[in-house]
This record gives sequence, structure tokens and C-alpha cells, in this order.
Amino acid sequence: MLDATPTHPRAEPLPGIWRRGVYEAIARRRDMREFLPDPIAPTVLARVLMAAHLAGSVGFMQPWNFIVVEDRLTREKIRAHVEVERVRAAAAFDPERREKYLSLKLEGILDTPLNICITCDRTRFGPAVIGRHTIRTTDLYSTCCAVQNLWLAARAEGLGVGWVSILQPQRLREFLHIPQHVIPVAYLCVGYVREFPPEPTLQTVGWLPRLPLEQIVSSERFGAPPPEHLTAALREETRRYAQRPRDRRPSDHQHGLFMIYTGHGKGKTTAAMGMVMRALGRELPVAVIQFIKGKWQTGERLFAESLPHLTFLVMGRGFTWESEDLNRDKQAAVQAWEKAKAMMHSGDYFLVVLDEITYAINYGFIALDDVLDALRNRPRGVHVLATGRSAPPGLLEAADLVSEMTKLKHPFDQGLQAKVGIDY
Ligand SMILES: Cc1cc2nc3c(=O)[nH]c(=O)nc-3n(C[C@H](O)[C@H](O)[C@H](O)COP(=O)(O)O)c2cc1C
Repeated sequence: MLDATPTHPRAEPLPGIWRRGVYEAIARRRDMREFLPDPIAPTVLARVLMAAHLAGSVGFMQPWNFIVVEDRLTREKIRAHVEVERVRAAAAFDPERREKYLSLKLEGILDTPLNICITCDRTRFGPAVIGRHTIRTTDLYSTCCAVQNLWLAARAEGLGVGWVSILQPQRLREFLHIPQHVIPVAYLCVGYVREFPPEPTLQTVGWLPRLPLEQIVSSERFGAPPPEHLTAALREETRRYAQRPRDRRPSDHQHGLFMIYTGHGKGKTTAAMGMVMRALGRELPVAVIQFIKGKWQTGERLFAESLPHLTFLVMGRGFTWESEDLNRDKQAAVQAWEKAKAMMHSGDYFLVVLDEITYAINYGFIALDDVLDALRNRPRGVHVLATGRSAPPGLLEAADLVSEMTKLKHPFDQGLQAKVGIDY
């Protein structure tokens, strides 16, 4: 057990940043009670529901259904029922705890844009289901796996989930027209949140502590302590978890640079991509907004689509000097800029690359003053890198770093065309 050297050919683990992403989503998932009313885009909701649907299930029976509840009236009825149940449950606690219990916010049914009810149809593909013969409840366990997948995917999307179980399944059946043989397993409030607390709320308010990992892992028999080498690893993991970086935003605590790569030589975007690679190698989130190269399928864009931690948006509609419709180009540039501003200001990115933004400024599609304002007002730690020829003086002045690519030679001068993998 001590020697972990592989002795057989085996599957590769996930690449480093994917693997870390899984653990980060797990550690940063929270049960949420405070929400923002902002709507959830159907594409985001679909991704999260797909994650739920990809859960393991006994005999692959996929016993779940997902009911998305948006209707205010329905939710009001459910909320009123939960309130009755919440007060009723208070009687189970001694007086001191009762007061604390009643002070806790235990649901966000009306605060979120939607709720999701996850049910379990115990008859699906039945009655004989591989693996369920002995333990009848494995279909319910499977449904909980779907809930957990949804919870983690939602966290990855920045969406909070609050599990509300203070309700009578039968009442929920009535509210949502769920057939009698189907079990409502989870009722979830889903919505964006201002921030995810680092620890469970019930831990922070002193209701219960998190149990030490080494206390709940046993060896060979229930309750028997694990051997020393495993105990040491469990302790080390507990220490590592306790000391993990708590920054909610990667950009909270440093001085962000504003950098420009300009000039007439080739290499501005290329150099920017080098810096992107460097940041990604450090597992720092990056956004690239390409203002111009919309019509081209570039190599960097294809590569970017395969990388986590990188948001790559191509908003331009093609080189302006080829354009037949300047109005359309302007619209695309303005849209790109609005998006770029939001990303810069979100504080969620370590580095934001505004690729070829100088063209959009020089063509008058976006105002230099607006760009300077946005740079000034960004969160302190966000690094911004702008590229493009003829960076205007006002932009140069605002920069901490300016590099100029000088053309000494270029293959175009010999009549050579742009090359796949080199130029795009
Ligand atoms: C099956 C289940 C039902 C839950 N029901 C409620 C609930 O009705 N109200 C509530 O405030 N929290 C509920 N929770 C959330 C737990 O209190 C929460 O998961 C726990 O305190 C740990 O916090 P964390 O999820 O942020 O790590 C539920 C969680 C689970 C797994």
C-alpha cells in the first residue's frame, strides 16, 4: 500500500487543471440561502441539467425527472407550506437551540429565478433492475447522485443551490402534479449568488463543526483507526484543506498591470497568446476577447476551446478593411467591448486580453475615454493586455508596459500568403 509506483499500464488522470477544477468545485460548493434574482440563461440551465442526467444510476435505470419550477404562484404555495413545516419542526429542538433554529434562513424559494424538483420514478425500466434486487433503495441513492452532480455543476457555473427538505412529499406531489408512484427526492432553489461562503453556514454559526477526516475513516473494521501512514496522509490532507487559498476572486490581492503590444510587425497576438499560456500554466483564469478576427477560424481559437480556465470570445466580424458593412462591424465591436468590460470588472479573471482592440478604437467604434474609464475602474488586481497596431497616445499613456513589434521582414513582401499554424 505504501508503494504507489504503477506496475500496470493504466489510464491517465485528468490533466492538472481539470483535476484541480473538480476538487475546487467540490470544496467550494455550498448550500445557499441568499440569492440574486438574475435570470439563468437556458444554455447554462441545460448544461447543469445534463450534468445531473450524467449521474451514475443502479442498472442504468436513470430514475430521475427534473421539474423546473418558475411559476411564481406555484412557488408561493410551496413556500407557504415550507414555512408551516419549518415552525412545526422547531418543537423538536430544546428551547435554546429552537431560538437559533428559528433564526436561520432555510430556503430561498421565492428569491431565486427558479426551483428544480428532482424526482425518482421507482418503476422505470422495472420491475427487475440490475443491482436493485437486494437493496431496494439504490434507485433513491442514484437520484441523490444526480442531485450532487447538479450541485457541483451549478457551482462551476457560479450558480448557488439550496436544498429544501422541510416539506411533505405528498404536498409537493399535489403542487407539481407528480404521480403517486414517483418520489420527490430533492427540492432545490437555484440562482446566482453574491458570493459563496468558504464554510457551511451551519458551521459558521456554530451549529455543528466539520468532523475530522481521520475520525471517520476506519481500517478493516467499523470504527478501527487506520494505520499510521494513512492517518498521516489524512491529517496532511485536512491541514491542506484548512490552509487552502480562500480568495474568491483570483484578482483580489495584487497590482494589475495594463500592457500593450503594438507596432507594425507580426507577433502582437502571438506574444499575447504566450502570456495567456503562462497564466494558464499557473492555473489562473484568463479571458481573451478578439475584436477583429471574427471570420477566421484561428488555431488559437481552436486550441482555446479545449482548455478549462480560458474564456475565448471572438466578437469581431472580420477585418474592417475588407468590410462591406461598417455599421455591422461597429455593432459587433460595441458588443465585444461591453462583454470585455463586464469580464474586466467581474474580477473573475487574472488576465483579460483585448486582442486587436486598437482597431476598434481607431475606427471610432468604441470611445477611447470609455476604454480608459473602464481600465481605471477595474478591480485592483486584474491584468489587462491590449494588442493592435497604432495604439492611440492616450492608451499608451495609461499603460504600465508597451512593447512595439517592429517589422524588419515579412513574408507578405515576397508574395507569400498567411500560413495555417503560423499566422492563424
Ligand atoms: C438531503 C439534504 C437536505 C437538506 N435540507 C435542507 C433544508 O431543508 N434547509 C436547509 O437550510 N439546508 C438543507 N440542507 C443543506 C445542509 O444544511 C448543508 O448541506 C450542510 O449544512 C452542509 O453545508 P454545505 O452544503 O454548504 O457544505 C440539506 C442538505 C441535504 C444534503
